[in-house]
Amino acid sequence: MALALFTIVGAFIFAGWVIYTVLFLAPWFPTRKHDIDRIDAALAWRPDTLFYDLGSGDGRVCLWLARRHPDVTFVGVEMSFVLHAIAVLRCKISGLTNVRCMRADALRLSLLDADYVYVFGTHRTIDTIIRDKVVPQVKLGTHIISYNFGVTQWSGDEVCYDDDGFTRFYIYTK
Ligand SMILES: C[S@@+](CC[C@H](N)C(=O)[O-])C[C@H]1O[C@@H](n2cnc3c(N)ncnc32)[C@H](O)[C@@H]1O
Repeated sequence: MALALFTIVGAFIFAGWVIYTVLFLAPWFPTRKHDIDRIDAALAWRPDTLFYDLGSGDGRVCLWLARRHPDVTFVGVEMSFVLHAIAVLRCKISGLTNVRCMRADALRLSLLDADYVYVFGTHRTIDTIIRDKVVPQVKLGTHIISYNFGVTQWSGDEVCYDDDGFTRFYIYTK
């Protein structure tokens, strides 16, 4: 009886959490390692710059790239306590000093200092997040990388990368 109650409550909490993340940005779904490599190769990295992953999940994008670019600072911003805790643990185990994990709502964050902003949202949320929230506040020259979904109305520089006909990513430069 207690187990059934525990399972039902757990299922409700989990479903509520998934709906919440879908409404805000996206549910957790990781970027493929192969695609992190493609994004890495497509970006023109500059030293002493700042990279944000908005909705960073278990931190894999920041950690993967931070190993290759020790002179760039990576900030993963994740709303979920559980995923944030996993990212912090992975970060500590990695020993990397150029990665920071933040538990915060990425949509309320100031991105004035960002040089690169990575977003893996959904088709529904990407326009509002990138075009309406990120672009207005970042400085000129900031690169915004959107995985899988493009912004429907964009008036700046845009490059679309698509090597297998399925997983696209877009790099926008303000
Ligand atoms: C599609 S996953 C991407 C995870 C990671 N960026 C990656 O590529 O592996 C989206 C993540 O955004 C988080 N998320 C959703 N809304 C958010 C918000 N407003 N602020 C911070 N994180 C959010 C979810 O919990 C989820 O982990």
